[in-house]
Amino acid sequence: MSDTTMRSVAEAADRAPGEHPSGDNRFDLVDKHLKRSRYAQDQLIETLHVAQDVFGFLSEDILIYVARALRLPPSMVYGVATFYQLFTFDPPGDHSCTVCTGTACFVKGADDIVQGVSAAYNVPAGETSEDRSLTLKTARCLGSCGLAPVVVFDGEVLSHQSVQSTLDLVASAVGGDG
Ligand code: FES
Repeated sequence: MSDTTMRSVAEAADRAPGEHPSGDNRFDLVDKHLKRSRYAQDQLIETLHVAQDVFGFLSEDILIYVARALRLPPSMVYGVATFYQLFTFDPPGDHSCTVCTGTACFVKGADDIVQGVSAAYNVPAGETSEDRSLTLKTARCLGSCGLAPVVVFDGEVLSHQSVQSTLDLVASAVGGDG
């Protein structure tokens, strides 16, 4: 996407609903957040979070898009994004398993779930398996502590998970013995 396209896309948040000018309607969700936050520059980190939630990672195009929308230097946006470990710059694998390791989930065995999936699929937490079939991530509290331990698999929030239930879930999507 060219700079000109990105600028026009970022400035077109008031357009009628429909096809996003970038050709990728996922940008609509980022635009919605930008509009809601009135393009406030102090919303940079929150905007990057939204973009990462939508796209699964932050590409250079996405960082430039956010920079233009918030009228910030791309170098600054890049600097902020790389400073925080919460952001990832690699595209996720075919399937994504995020284990909440916040306090409530941790005390109910979230760490065992992470270790179990990591060992079964030979993928360290925070990374994608070599065949790119599975990305294993951890997250801070997802705000559903009453459902602990919480796992988000391919965007679906799953409550009261165990090592075995999570392995079964991953195996049903990715394959393997679980
Ligand atoms: S600690 Fe996992 S949802 Fe709150």
